[in-house]
Amino acid sequence: MIVSSPEDFREAARRRLPRFLFDYLDGGAGGEETLRRNQTDLAGHRLRQRVLVDVSGIDLRTTLFGQDLAMPVMLGPVGLGGMYARRGEVQAARAAGAAGVPFCLSTVALCGLDEVIAGSGAPPWFQLYVIKDRGFLTDLLDHAWAAGCRNLVFTVDMPVPGVRYRDRRSGMSGPFAAARRLAQACTSPGWAIDVGLLGRPHRLGNLAPVLGRASGMNDYMGWLGANFDPAIAWRDLDWIRARWPGALVIKGILDPDDADAAARLGADGIIVSNHGGRQLDGAPSTASALPAIADRVAERLTVLADSGVRNGRDVARMLALGAKGVLLGRAWVYALATGGEAGVTQLLAMIERELAVTMSLCGARSVAQLNRDVLAG
Ligand code: FNR
Repeated sequence: MIVSSPEDFREAARRRLPRFLFDYLDGGAGGEETLRRNQTDLAGHRLRQRVLVDVSGIDLRTTLFGQDLAMPVMLGPVGLGGMYARRGEVQAARAAGAAGVPFCLSTVALCGLDEVIAGSGAPPWFQLYVIKDRGFLTDLLDHAWAAGCRNLVFTVDMPVPGVRYRDRRSGMSGPFAAARRLAQACTSPGWAIDVGLLGRPHRLGNLAPVLGRASGMNDYMGWLGANFDPAIAWRDLDWIRARWPGALVIKGILDPDDADAAARLGADGIIVSNHGGRQLDGAPSTASALPAIADRVAERLTVLADSGVRNGRDVARMLALGAKGVLLGRAWVYALATGGEAGVTQLLAMIERELAVTMSLCGARSVAQLNRDVLAG
């Protein structure tokens, strides 16, 4: 299949992946209301077409936490990236590095931090989930700092995993899951060779010290449920703040009061996010929650956003609604599943071009000029 637009990667990924992996990536929580609204609310914002503004020297660059970015976009943390292409996190980190945008490594990635740094030549941003074993958490933080990571994304919207029915239907979890996954893998030969055979080991690199050898797909879902800490509370932010000297970015804020608390407790940034509609179904879309949050805290910390971003117009809209930078989630993994590093490179080039054209036609010469004036009501 020929990929001509960023959205085409989704269908290309669907054709290549075993169903359980496509559905794990594509699906959301409950009835998937929030998942749908993330995209429709964002795309529903109309952009003001402005004319006769000299846009010959348009500039997409920005700076986040002292790091220069080619455009206000980054690859957000997605667990199990290495199940979507062979050693997938390394491939994605390389594509991000070449495009001049950050890559954020998930706690529950297949490739561990050291493998990603060795393969991409640069320390990524690191995403942290709070797990019950605080000793291990301290080791993880120390390791990330020693490896050169300076930006920590602390995800707070998953005290318990959301209720995701698609995973039960497709064999990611539920009865006879392992047998169903094997049957699906047999009908996806491209994936089976690239990832199933040549992409081993299929274990969670960052968690290897606590998971040991028992880290297959079945263990993954069980481990999430058993080890994520439902007791996580604001005091944990204090605990992490005291242990992390770099930039601390709280991911999963959807309410102005929580954004305010993050600012008071010394966070450097927040990511306005509903986890791509995978946690609380019925929660507002990011696009609808973002303006009030930005109004409350943008002068005290850096506001980033994700959920529902699929193309360059969406990036422009999120910035216009108050974000200083945007994280891609599913979008980059569809591209990774389709074409590995080259797929992610192609996606980022498409997004960069579309963002530049969108800004030009809105009369915005720099990303700083993408504010609410760009939106047509
Ligand atoms: C995620 N997300 C996520 N977030 C995080 O902090 N740590 C993680 O390990 C994961 N894992 C994960 C797996 C999969 C398959 C998806 C789709 C998402 C959430 C992710 O960072 C981001 O918030 C959403 O993906 C944004 O929504 P869109 O852009 O995918 O609509």
